[in-house]
Amino acid sequence: MSLLTVSDLNVNYGDTRVLWDIAFEIEEGQFVSLVGANGAGKTTFLRTVVGLVPAVSGRIDFDGVDVTTVPVEARIRAGLSMVPEGRRLFKGMTVLNNILIGAYFRKDRQGVLEDEEKVFGYFPELEKLRNRTAGDLSGGEQQMCAIGRALMARPRLLLVDEMSLGLAPVIVERLAEVLARINTEQGMSVILVEQDVEIALELSSRGYVIDNGRIVMTGQSSELLADPKIREAYMGLV
Ligand SMILES: Nc1ncnc2c1ncn2[C@@H]1O[C@H](COP(=O)(O)OP(=O)(O)OP(=O)(O)O)[C@@H](O)[C@H]1O
Ligand SMILES: [Mg+2]
Repeated sequence: MSLLTVSDLNVNYGDTRVLWDIAFEIEEGQFVSLVGANGAGKTTFLRTVVGLVPAVSGRIDFDGVDVTTVPVEARIRAGLSMVPEGRRLFKGMTVLNNILIGAYFRKDRQGVLEDEEKVFGYFPELEKLRNRTAGDLSGGEQQMCAIGRALMARPRLLLVDEMSLGLAPVIVERLAEVLARINTEQGMSVILVEQDVEIALELSSRGYVIDNGRIVMTGQSSELLADPKIREAYMGLV
């Protein structure tokens, strides 16, 4: 069953249109990537799905409910949670407090404790740093912290914006491994947005390619990875 269905979505910044007639779908338990160049509209798409940017027209259905005009807080409660571009941690606060902010809207204390354990289970390296100030962490550790924070909302759909940007390959591999585990072990649906097309398509089962605010290609990730047009345009390969 489809968990998120976006249809005919148009989004503007001021008078400038940045997303055109977007159609996008993800099923429960799927791992889908959205790839494209700098400025293509990937972040805007995620921000519109969670309600931080309004749609000009079109429709966003989540779990069978039209959420197009629903406020951000209610969308989080419904099960949408985002790892934002650039992590956006509270740099002066501890790792643990940053992670707990993700549970801000929850009342089930027991569940929150369980999820805290789960997060530190996925990222044991973070548990050792739980009382450290987030601003003192490395980029990779900060990304783990941002993913942990998003998981604390116990989402049904996790939206990750630029997981790999600026991080060393070994760290990216570690983060990728955890995202894959979260998807397979918990059956959590994941949308991964990446400029690094190869990483995203290797992790996901389906992919969308966005160019200049329009979806220009979609299909099985393995097919997209093998497509000469994609290899040339986005991976610098011929
Ligand atoms: N707050 C804003 N106000 C006006 N224009 C914006 C704003 N944010 C982004 N844009 C413009 O909207 C377009 C889409 O930007 P967006 O950030 O969604 O792209 P992106 O695919 O996430 O890019 P990147 O790979 O660099 O993160 C770009 O032309 C960008 O300059
Ligand atoms: Mg972006």
